[in-house]
Amino acid sequence: MTASTATTADTFRPALHYATRNTWLNDPNGLIFHGGLYHLYYQNNPLDNVWGNMSWGHATSPDLLTWTEHPVAISCDEQEDIFSGSIVFDRHNTSGFGTAETAPLVAMYTSAFKPASAHHGVQAQSLAYSLDGGYTWTKHTANPVLDRGSAEFRDPKVFRYTGEDGSYWVMVAVEATDFQVVLYKSEDLAKWELLSTFGPANATGGVWECPDLFALPLDGEADNLKWVLTVNLNPGGPNDGSAGQYFVGEFDGTTFTSSTTVTEGPQDPARLAEYQWLDWGRDYYAAVSFSDAPDDRRLMIAWMNNWQYANQIPTSPWRSPMSLARVVSLRTVDGKPRLVQQIAEDPASISNLEPSFTLESAEISNETRIIDGASGSVQRIELTFTPGTADDFGLIVRGDETHGTRVGILPAQGRLFVDRTASGQSDFHESFASIDSAPILPIGGSYRLTVVVDHCSVEVFAQGGLVTMTELIFPSSTSTDVSLYASGGTATVSSLNLTTFS
Ligand code: FRU
Repeated sequence: MTASTATTADTFRPALHYATRNTWLNDPNGLIFHGGLYHLYYQNNPLDNVWGNMSWGHATSPDLLTWTEHPVAISCDEQEDIFSGSIVFDRHNTSGFGTAETAPLVAMYTSAFKPASAHHGVQAQSLAYSLDGGYTWTKHTANPVLDRGSAEFRDPKVFRYTGEDGSYWVMVAVEATDFQVVLYKSEDLAKWELLSTFGPANATGGVWECPDLFALPLDGEADNLKWVLTVNLNPGGPNDGSAGQYFVGEFDGTTFTSSTTVTEGPQDPARLAEYQWLDWGRDYYAAVSFSDAPDDRRLMIAWMNNWQYANQIPTSPWRSPMSLARVVSLRTVDGKPRLVQQIAEDPASISNLEPSFTLESAEISNETRIIDGASGSVQRIELTFTPGTADDFGLIVRGDETHGTRVGILPAQGRLFVDRTASGQSDFHESFASIDSAPILPIGGSYRLTVVVDHCSVEVFAQGGLVTMTELIFPSSTSTDVSLYASGGTATVSSLNLTTFS
């Protein structure tokens, strides 16, 4: 098979998000800031735009918004597919893959062994290294380096841990169908010793995949570090299909102890809303963080798709975008540690655009009001609503007379929702058209939303990033209206700041 070529106009190609030129991608892999650039590797089918031939694609960016695609970094072969994993900069050459002058980048990935391999049926962890800053990679001759004889052992995320017992490499990976995160330790990235396991806990409605573990200061206090364990699961998300959950607690160099576990063992479906979710939308999966991000920022990117319909979304010749990069931090909310997520690099910062539209205050009463002069396909919209008597109010983006994606608030129910039932194309999969929702409470009596709209997506950051919802949409390129609406009464938009990129 050869890479697909465009048969229709590429109207869904994102302007602010990464997508490949003409191939398939899924999970972000090996995220690292190195040599002054953000490196994004990813699950890639170099030969087609559906899942298969899994290899690591590669792109770089100076600003997390504009990306350059490079040749495939680590390729599948007749023995193995290259599943998800991570990259570390081995500055002290602990692995021995580099030299005193040239420290290596070391990738740890899952070898999904094929029938031609002696390891067929097993998923085990393997290494590759790069001595040219991440552009070309050599597979280690002694692969795999960690084999448990398991068919579902994957997605290693490696980081450098420094504690009372010194410094060493720690890997978190999953036993996917056991709903378990496994933690290992190494001095040289090649010999691994089991430290502990975590789970099952909280959401277990689908296999556990792509874990991550990192420390963050709680409420910005450097001497109050907490550890965050993120675990993606598929299916079993709060609005169906793929999603990511997180736990907050302590890591002592051996064991992660969660202080936010609600249920241990199999999940309690009635308590799904009490689990902590990275994102409540349908299209934020396999989120992982960057190694060595500047200024100690913890930056995450997710695959903006859902395994329910991933292979069918109507984009061509490419398929699947990545999410925007987010900076995550930890804040105490109602006595509990919660992740807060913001757009890492605001698109307006690189385009030097002034807000193209601002509104001081407007009351919306039982109406849908198109904002004159605010139309667009790629926009960042920041607005604050103060509720009145309306039982449903919000914003409609990518609209026309009959279409639009509604981002609304139901104050009495305490819900934020994204309604994409009339967003555009949805007939490619029966479960795509949906109304998805998340819990939301007013802060100081109002609701603050930042909404980023691109050619095929809507990302909502609500209440300063305490709740996020990420969703794909496939509108007509002529659906560009932006409207405010309130039904059953009034709501006031107390501020609105809208920047249009195209
Ligand atoms: C998650 C995942 C990973 C695996 C990869 C294969 O989306 O299933 O667990 O490594 O995709 O492409």
